[in-house]
Amino acid sequence: MTLWGGRFTQSLDSLAWALNSSLPVDQRMAIQDVDGSIAWADALHKANILLDEEHASISLGLATVKEEFASGQFSFAPSDEDIHTAVERRLTELIGVTAGKLHTGRSRNDQVATDFRLWMLQAIPELDSAFKNLQSALLEQAELAGETIMPGYTHLQRAQPILLSHWWLSHYHPLERDRERLADLVKRVSILPLGSGALAGTPVPVDRAALAESLGFAVASPNSLDSVSDRDFAAEFLFCVTMTGIHLSKLSEQIVLYTSAEFGFFELSDAFSTGSSLMPQKKNPDVFELTRGKAGTLIGMLTGLLATLKGLPSTYDKDLQEDKAPVFAATDTLLAILPVIAGAINTITAKPQRMRNAIDSFMMATDLADYLVGKRIPFRETHAIAGKAVREAGEKKVGLEELSLEAYQALSPAFEADVYQVFDPMKSVEKRNAIGGTSLQSVKNQIKQIKGE
Ligand code: ARG
Repeated sequence: MTLWGGRFTQSLDSLAWALNSSLPVDQRMAIQDVDGSIAWADALHKANILLDEEHASISLGLATVKEEFASGQFSFAPSDEDIHTAVERRLTELIGVTAGKLHTGRSRNDQVATDFRLWMLQAIPELDSAFKNLQSALLEQAELAGETIMPGYTHLQRAQPILLSHWWLSHYHPLERDRERLADLVKRVSILPLGSGALAGTPVPVDRAALAESLGFAVASPNSLDSVSDRDFAAEFLFCVTMTGIHLSKLSEQIVLYTSAEFGFFELSDAFSTGSSLMPQKKNPDVFELTRGKAGTLIGMLTGLLATLKGLPSTYDKDLQEDKAPVFAATDTLLAILPVIAGAINTITAKPQRMRNAIDSFMMATDLADYLVGKRIPFRETHAIAGKAVREAGEKKVGLEELSLEAYQALSPAFEADVYQVFDPMKSVEKRNAIGGTSLQSVKNQIKQIKGE
């Protein structure tokens, strides 16, 4: 039985029925749907639409339905078009015709938007704790890294030496922003649509502010037309999740590179690597490749929803039924990725010697220029002088540290014997001591700040 058969003489074509049905997707909001109905029944009772005994019967019936969902006992009927129909059908089986009073003044339009928002309010903290676990893994690695130095890159070309700890933390902060974004989104999710009716508002004199409070929403939506069709929260949520996907893909890309024999900066634990069915020697970073790949899928989900929303006439349009699948799938994707990446990071081994060997004296060319700045020569000039030293060393096929003092002094009389100290990469690191720099002290401060010490 559908919730809308009255005006029809024919039943819906079976293929059209299958297309129309949203149960496979929205049954995931079963608990939220029942909670919304319990609160709505309370509101109808307060508004004198339900008598005491009707309210008691509906509430008891809904409690049973909820229990059936929670314990996995609920069985769906072939006629259940969506989760709302399923709940009402079961309630009718349990308490009889009184169940038919529950939908007074309510539409599936305000109902589904309410369910979806309730679902998201509970998904956000779940995501947050998965984020935090990965952040802890990154922080732990940063602390473990001690004084290990590695090459820092721009354009994927060797640039300047950095601390490994600094690099680990550079992947911590984006996740912090992701968490902030999701936390900030809560205030835009926490707006109650229920009581907006199909589009124009409900004729039932419900206290929507009290209804909002009873369901844990911050406020009731101020405009019924907007409220039944507002899916900004879903698009924003997908953006947040996708942005995390992109952050994780950046981390993944580097782990893939850095675990290659060419770099050899890290080794993955066996528990988070996979082999090849053909090449016995292979140890592949599949989990990071999958993470990198899934970021693409997440972008597709966000883009898909935005395209669905584009140009929709107000208010509710059935196109909106497309909103939940990508949100659920994106959440599942992230919840699948985050703990695996955390596990892989927890168990990864750094190879400090390989990192150190990848630092050559050319990475201190900036320090060479800075040395002359210390002699009061303008940076523009010192940059050119250091550039000439790089060219000369390149031509002679030697490192910068192998050029003679005479050669340096020919480039600038300001060079003295202590110039060779600039080629110590740790000295280069230590000079970068301002807030946010890669020096030991600066990174220590970063860790302290993160830990709130
Ligand atoms: N399954 C629908 C959705 O997800 C519920 C709302 C149905 N509303 C309607 N007017 N048919 O959007």
